[in-house]
Amino acid sequence: MSATVNTDNWPAIKAAAEAALPAKVVEFIASLKGQTHAESHLIAILHMVQAENGWLSPETMEAVAQLAQIPLAKVTGVATFYHYFRLQPRGKHMINVCLGTACYVKGADKISQRLMDNLGIAFGETTKDGMFSLESTRCLGTCGLAPVVMIDDQVHGPVTPGEVGLILEKYLKKDKVKA
Ligand code: FES
Repeated sequence: MSATVNTDNWPAIKAAAEAALPAKVVEFIASLKGQTHAESHLIAILHMVQAENGWLSPETMEAVAQLAQIPLAKVTGVATFYHYFRLQPRGKHMINVCLGTACYVKGADKISQRLMDNLGIAFGETTKDGMFSLESTRCLGTCGLAPVVMIDDQVHGPVTPGEVGLILEKYLKKDKVKA
């Protein structure tokens, strides 16, 4: 949907864009009306969308562009530039590998590589079955357990490359038992 804005179709476009976004975001964008630099709030808007939805879908980015009257290319450009923004839905389990100094010197790169090999995805991606998303993070504050991997809200450490498969298996098994 990249319709040209004119006086005939704007109400419909606006209504569709509002429906595609969380109410909080619609309100925030409305509060910016009249400000000359709406673009300077773009990162804040995208953060809000991601906080509510977990990721930035093409539909929500287009809705932001329409409502804030910012070119779609600019919105997608910012969303793709910053590593923080997720352009795919989150998996059921979020894996965060700590790449802080203490974890790095204890082999966090090897843990990362093993996770990527086992899951078949890179950082910022989600497995095809929707089970795991992989992210990297900076110091989790548990350097004594380095190298550390956080899955959902549970910290695992010290983790060896050989344990990676077992840890993932544990989460898969837990889900099977629940199902
Ligand atoms: S550097 Fe990894 S927990 Fe501190």
